[in-house]
Amino acid sequence: MNIAIKKQLVPDPYTETLENIDFSDGRLFETDAWKSYFKRLRDEDPVHYQADSPFGPFWSVTSYDDILYVDKHHEIFSSEPGILIGDFEDEIPLEMFIGMDPPRHDQQRVAVQSVVAPKNLAAMESLIRSRVCTILDDLPLNEEFDWVDRVSIELTSQMLATLFNFPFEDRRKLTYWSDLATGTPALTDGDVDPAERAAGLADCLTTFQKLWMERLEEGKPDGEVGLDLISLMQANDETKDMMDRPMELLGNLVLLIVGGNDTTRNSLTGGLFALNKFPKEFEKLKANPAVIPNMISEIIRWQTPLAHMRRIANHDVNLGGKSIKAGDKVVMWYASGNRDESHFPNADDLIIDRKNARSHLSFGYGIHRCMGNRLAEMQLRIVWEEILNRFSSVEVVSGPTGIKSNFAKGYSYMGVRLTPVS
Ligand code: HEM
Repeated sequence: MNIAIKKQLVPDPYTETLENIDFSDGRLFETDAWKSYFKRLRDEDPVHYQADSPFGPFWSVTSYDDILYVDKHHEIFSSEPGILIGDFEDEIPLEMFIGMDPPRHDQQRVAVQSVVAPKNLAAMESLIRSRVCTILDDLPLNEEFDWVDRVSIELTSQMLATLFNFPFEDRRKLTYWSDLATGTPALTDGDVDPAERAAGLADCLTTFQKLWMERLEEGKPDGEVGLDLISLMQANDETKDMMDRPMELLGNLVLLIVGGNDTTRNSLTGGLFALNKFPKEFEKLKANPAVIPNMISEIIRWQTPLAHMRRIANHDVNLGGKSIKAGDKVVMWYASGNRDESHFPNADDLIIDRKNARSHLSFGYGIHRCMGNRLAEMQLRIVWEEILNRFSSVEVVSGPTGIKSNFAKGYSYMGVRLTPVS
């Protein structure tokens, strides 16, 4: 395939030969065209080898069952050195536990996972709710505003500032660094300039090194550990010397920032968009708010905020009748698995009381399954509870505008108009 020619236009999903389609093209997601391309793969070639792409050759795994198989078998499919379709060749490398195999992965995950333990989440709930209420109460009524900026980014950046005990007034820096981290052409076919990424990540590292030192100096009474992520890392044997391993410190910070930011943010926007596309579901929700927890799972399935995770085969393996060789890149397209009709009937529709919504793939599976899944669900649940308390209609009046990326599946703008409950 001639990638230079192909790059000029997005080929037709049905008339083009599969060999001439680049499934890693970020525009497929930016323009929301991806669904028909991946449906065709699921129907015709569910484990598909793409010999030529801007990211080198790779396998696309597109069916629900095959994705589950790959994600469950970390001993066959390695997460090292990274989980994005692109490699860190010309980019600042980031070492993070999502891109590590056992034992290092397990040691580092254990160090920080208590921040999202049920006890902590319960303690955070009232703070999250008060922040959600303030954000919603400040929104203009009966006129268009940008939901992405005023609600989705604002709420997730506030949450991240809380998780890190980061200076609250600088919280938008977290969002900015997150956008830079995964957004370059070489990593995900995004639009971020690599030089801007390098400068932003350097600033991120310096800022957190300073915070790290401040937190050490603040000290705590004997035996007491702060519940923010930095204090937890400092209290754990596996991570307490991370200041001496700057790339690992930066990597794990970025992991937690991206983990807690892009994903929840795009679920907040995507959920509202979906309820506008499927207005009967909005009526169903108003008639029965008890459906909210199930609806949150369904929104996360429908949106699939991270379109893929990548693996490298440790040895030769057969998948779906195809021979994958040791060293091959294997991309699990969660976005596709979540629209697999054999698992989710009418998969393109949002059905808020869908029976098996919780079995979606958006959080992954196995040892890397999302660490923040309960936190994300809690935030989304609270937002929807408080929306219902305030507004009779939440109407999408323009957009949304998609983001060019084959990884972070999300939005940069969505115009919304609110009508208050009378
Ligand atoms: C891992 C999605 C929210 C932190 C992951 C993975 C996915 C994912 C797909 C990789 C799973 C795999 O490879 O099998 C999401 C989605 C979210 C979300 C869709 C929201 C709707 C969060 C939040 C946090 C977070 C709020 C913050 C605490 C992490 C971390 C990992 C991870 C630390 C790495 C886990 C590991 O490698 O063991 N997430 N995430 N995520 N997520 Fe999330």
